[in-house]
This record gives sequence, structure tokens and C-alpha cells, in this order.
Amino acid sequence: MQKIVVLNPKGGSGKTTIATNLASYFAVAGLKPTLMDLDAQGSSMRWLSKRTKDQIAIHGIAGYERNPRVTRSFAMRLPLDTERLIVDTAAALDPQRLPEITRNATAVLVPVLPSDIDIHAAAKCISDLLLIAKIRRDEQRIAVIANRVKKNTLVYRSLMRFLETLRIPVISTLRDSQNYIKAAEAGVGLFEMKPYLVREDLEQWQPIVNWLMQRRGVEIPPGSPALTATSLW
Ligand SMILES: Nc1ncnc2c1ncn2[C@@H]1O[C@H](COP(=O)(O)OP(=O)(O)OP(=O)(O)O)[C@@H](O)[C@H]1O
Ligand SMILES: [Mg+2]
Repeated sequence: MQKIVVLNPKGGSGKTTIATNLASYFAVAGLKPTLMDLDAQGSSMRWLSKRTKDQIAIHGIAGYERNPRVTRSFAMRLPLDTERLIVDTAAALDPQRLPEITRNATAVLVPVLPSDIDIHAAAKCISDLLLIAKIRRDEQRIAVIANRVKKNTLVYRSLMRFLETLRIPVISTLRDSQNYIKAAEAGVGLFEMKPYLVREDLEQWQPIVNWLMQRRGVEIPPGSPALTATSLW
């Protein structure tokens, strides 16, 4: 199984957009995804709730919920056949939670918007991942996705220059596209939309999918007891 964490404490950088589109991609690819929402705003869970019976089922876990009648480990239980666990995280995440949230993650995706404030926040996020979560660069588990980019703008060029100095791969650049808004409203991902409408966006997703394919997942021994998300972090 692979655990993919989408993370950037900066609000509105595209975490939920990337998490939900990844869940959609894996569902279409037949790699059983579970989407875990650690954000109390519950945007990923809301996206899941919009899906109809005709769409491929995606299991959701509201990781932020504190229901006193259900023990946390039970509520967080992952279906045993999960092949991809995608974790959507909250804005303003406490950096001290990073080790717990990224434990055993095969990939940590950091979406970054091209703006001065976002570039500054991304630098802090990456340095926290390196220093607090203690993820080493040579493990190649962290990748940046430049999001809502208008190429050939000054701020885009300064974003790319800055990302080069971090020595963290920028695996794709996603354009600003109404298709993401439409997909979010309909509870689908780009991969479930009419291909001729999303062709350009799908091309930008290909390197993300390729990079994730090269990651190695955590092996789950056959016959292991029901896996709980808590045992993963
Ligand atoms: N590439 C894009 N093109 C157009 N709109 C986008 C794109 N990426 C994200 N958005 C829109 O920007 C808004 C913020 O994105 P999103 O909710 O994914 O960010 P977030 O990081 O999850 O925010 P939060 O920190 O509040 O959880 C949403 O309305 C989303 O539809
Ligand atoms: Mg979100």
C-alpha cells in the first residue's frame, strides 16, 4: 500500500484539489483508494458525499472526527484492500504533528501557488518536513507541485527559481483551470470528466502519476489484523 500525504500549512494552496483528483485517478485506475481527511473543514469528505452511485466508490475516513461513542482507532480503520491511502491535511497544521502525519508516507506532495506569500510559506513547510519530520532529501519522498500557474509571469519565474534552490523536485505545474472548480462541484476528478474537456490538464497530471508510480509502498503482510490508520502513524 502507498500512503500519499498532501500537505502545505498555507491555506488554499490546492491540497484538497490534489487529494481528491488523486483519489479519482486511483479509483479509475483500479487501485483501491481511501481518502482520509484530516481537515476539520471536511472538504474532501464533502467532495466524497457528492459522488453518486454511478461513480466508482471511494472510501472516506473523516480523520478529524472526535465521536465519543466510536473509538478513534475504529473510526479511522482502513479497509484491508486499500492500495492507496491519500491524506488531505489542514491549513495551519501544527509542525509538531508532521512526524506523525508523514510516518510511512511513500510520498509527500506540497502544492505551492505562485505568490510571494505562498513562496515564503512553502520554504517554511519544506524546512519543517526536513528538520521536524526528518525526511531526508535523498529518500526522494517530497515533491512540489506548482499550482494555479500562469506561465511566463514574473511570479512564476521567481517561484521556479526559488524551488530550484530547495533541491526538492517540482514534478508538475498545474494551470489555473475552471475544470478543477467544475470537478470539485460535481464530486468527480479530472480523470472522470470528458477527456476532450480536460486534455490539457490531464497532460499536466501525467508526470505526477508517473512520479508516484516510482514510489515503493509499505508492505502489508498477508493475514495481518485489520489495519488501522493509527498503526500507520
Ligand atoms: N489549478 C487550479 N485551477 C483553478 N482553481 C483551483 C486550482 N487549484 C485549486 N483551485 C481552487 O482553489 C480553491 C482552493 O483550493 P483547495 O481547496 O484545493 O486548497 P486547500 O489547500 O485544500 O485549502 P485549505 O487550506 O483551505 O484546505 C478551491 O476553490 C479550488 O477549487
Ligand atoms: Mg483543503
